[in-house]
Amino acid sequence: MPQPVSLLLDCDTGIDDALALAYLCSQPHVELVAVSSTPGNVDAEQVARNNLALLELCGRPDVPVAIGARAPLEIPLVTTPETHGPQGIGYAELPEPQGRVYAGDAVELWIEAARARPGELTALLTAPLTNFALALRAEPRLPELLRGVVIMGGSYYYQGNTTPTAEWNTHVDPHAAAEVFAAFSGLPEEKLPVVCALESTERIEMRPEHVEDLAREAGCAVPELVLPGQPEGLRSTASNPLVRHLSDMLRFYFEFHRAYDQGYIAHVHDYFAAAVAAGTVRYGTRTATVHVETAAPRLLGTTVADYRGLWGEAPNARIVSENHPGEAFDELIRSLGALARRIHG
Ligand code: BDR
Ligand code: CA
Repeated sequence: MPQPVSLLLDCDTGIDDALALAYLCSQPHVELVAVSSTPGNVDAEQVARNNLALLELCGRPDVPVAIGARAPLEIPLVTTPETHGPQGIGYAELPEPQGRVYAGDAVELWIEAARARPGELTALLTAPLTNFALALRAEPRLPELLRGVVIMGGSYYYQGNTTPTAEWNTHVDPHAAAEVFAAFSGLPEEKLPVVCALESTERIEMRPEHVEDLAREAGCAVPELVLPGQPEGLRSTASNPLVRHLSDMLRFYFEFHRAYDQGYIAHVHDYFAAAVAAGTVRYGTRTATVHVETAAPRLLGTTVADYRGLWGEAPNARIVSENHPGEAFDELIRSLGALARRIHG
């Protein structure tokens, strides 16, 4: 059993965010302290609706879901319906949530939680860094108050997924990302954010057989087949609602990746970041000084890592340099399958 982990999750749910959230709900050693909703893949209200519905589906209606910023710090919000569907969850139609969004502000919620439990909470960020940048403005001691930080964002010496050089989360709010990395400059190595960037998260390539394995693990009697030859938009008939909704999300994500010539697969970036934060997968990191471009129009959101100290600036990140996709999928299927079987089997 891994060490207990208490998480503040900030996400823009999002198909891979949804997988990450469901996975975290399946981990008995993970305490979800709060889930905040950042505009990104869809607007903040829709992110919050998705988070509430997913937490209820995963048997965790008790977790507060909050909203902070409604837009990036300095530029207009651009959402991505072609990647995650109009509601951010592909073809899934989640039940209307029973619960309500937390009445206060997400940024205040984070700060109160971090102050109340100094050194205990880990921040997991799978969205543009808008809310986290605002939290750091309001409480500059946040890096010391938090036990750790895990970020999904950026791409280092690896092509972008939004522009030729920029990754989605850093491209949506480059100013926030720049502020966040600046806030960690020169802190002790164990306080530097662990950064899961495209060169490591695109190795976490989900395939149809993983969906089939998940359904089997969840106890579904009929094989869950999401296949490239099937008509686009086909809906799952799985008996298990968690499997059914995840399957409908992942079919959309497979189709999106195929439309961009990447094959009938899905990069589940945020699941990997969640597993890193939960301490359930092996990975290695390299310390670096990260720069996020906020001025050059063609390079907006592009991230550069100085691994060799050539800029003469203190490090501000630990970038994942090694991961193990096979182990990560074994872990996902075992844990999420068990949750689906336990709650809906
Ligand atoms: C990131 O962008 C979003 O669309 C995904 O949810 C993930 O967080 C990958 O670039
Ligand atoms: Ca995300």
